[in-house]
Amino acid sequence: MSRFKHLISIDDLDKEDILFILKKAESFESIARGEINSKMLEGKILANLFFEPSTRTRMSFEVAMKRLGGDVINMTAQEASSIAKGETLADTIKVVSKYADVIVLRHPLEGAARFAAENSEVPIINGGDGAGQHPTQTLLDLYTIMKESSLDGIKIALMGDLKYSRTVHSLIRALTLFNTKIYLISPDTLRLPEEFLEGLKNVEIAELDDVINEIDVLYVTRIQKERFPDEEEYKKVAGSYKIDSELLKKAKENLIIMHPLPRIDEIDVSVDKTRHAKYFDQAFYGVPIRMAILSEVLNGVIA
Ligand code: CP
Repeated sequence: MSRFKHLISIDDLDKEDILFILKKAESFESIARGEINSKMLEGKILANLFFEPSTRTRMSFEVAMKRLGGDVINMTAQEASSIAKGETLADTIKVVSKYADVIVLRHPLEGAARFAAENSEVPIINGGDGAGQHPTQTLLDLYTIMKESSLDGIKIALMGDLKYSRTVHSLIRALTLFNTKIYLISPDTLRLPEEFLEGLKNVEIAELDDVINEIDVLYVTRIQKERFPDEEEYKKVAGSYKIDSELLKKAKENLIIMHPLPRIDEIDVSVDKTRHAKYFDQAFYGVPIRMAILSEVLNGVIA
């Protein structure tokens, strides 16, 4: 019996569910690295339905499925599918759920994944819905923090576009399940919307200079240019913050820097060589985490 059928929002999981997935992911790491073969999901098919660009989410789901012996079908170019002829999302989901055992959906509209779940015979995993949620990213972010720092009692700064970044919207809710102090650092126009702060404790607006010497995790996001209704508004904040190795001289020795990627210019490449940079490891951790999620929704049993 799975702990959850669909994974739409991080709020669908309680702390026990999250810790269960993180522990399960650890047991998949050597399979994720290709050191051990697995046929756990042999005969199962994952459908990747991506209505927005993606490198990490789509490819790491594909790698996760294939390394567990399953197969993958992809729909990424909408002009090559019947969406171009006017087929609705509901009909697309009804059809694809006849072909596949699980669907990962990325869509520009907030709420699209929840809507898809109402129309699907098979589990729907939200691979990002507009500026809404990105729960599998949150699980891999928590996994990275657990592996590279600690989940309990840390101080974390969420920095960048907090208004439109769905990775932040999901992560902040999950972090409050742990004993975490959260600093929010952003240009004024990109502050976290009030709705995401409801009921949250230990959250403070800050400036990076004031907290860089005390934080354990710095989670940076790019400005989500594609979500701005007006390009002029984007231009006003573009390039307004950047992490470089000079700034890190003030940081704690064991500070880790995370980023969901893609990066534009908000972390200088000189940071990549420092001990603080964990964003490429973070991208890898997406594979064992997504293996854990797939095995859970598909009731995979270690053979
Ligand atoms: N972090 C993330 O969602 O990356 P992609 O957009 O490349 O999937």
